[in-house]
Amino acid sequence: MQSGAQARNHAGQCDGDRNDMDLKTAARQVRENAYAPYSNFKVGAALRAENGSVYVGCNVENVAYPEGTCAEAGAIAAMIASGAHRIAEVYVIADSPDPVPPCGGCRQKLSEFAGRDVPVTLATTDGAEFRTSVGDLLPGAFDAGHMDRS
Ligand code: THU
Repeated sequence: MQSGAQARNHAGQCDGDRNDMDLKTAARQVRENAYAPYSNFKVGAALRAENGSVYVGCNVENVAYPEGTCAEAGAIAAMIASGAHRIAEVYVIADSPDPVPPCGGCRQKLSEFAGRDVPVTLATTDGAEFRTSVGDLLPGAFDAGHMDRS
């Protein structure tokens, strides 16, 4: 993997040997690009799709606060824009005292594209890591089956 912005194309997909891509490194690097002037809380997310490609995202805030987007949402958008649809692994990192879990909306977004057993690593910039899964982050997730009355 190349370093910094050169490591990513315009869709947020990392170049280089995609199968050996280190999600931790990718998330840590993209976090530096986060636009978080209001919270001063930068978050980086990297996910590996089932096709082996790695996609990254960072939070992008807005002066109209609800218009801001989370790092996880950015990584998912990059994956979808590239044509991939299924997530195999997720890594999220922030400069927080403890590994910060994804917000409720991001748990639902991850659930849309990942099975319950997909591993999610939550990390701090100090090196603490907490391993969980998409299913454990969102028990009882709403899915398409809940709209099926037949
Ligand atoms: N944020 C993320 O990007 N992902 C998370 O998992 C938690 C929160 C962002 C949103 C906002 O820009 C900032 O962190 C503070 O909430």
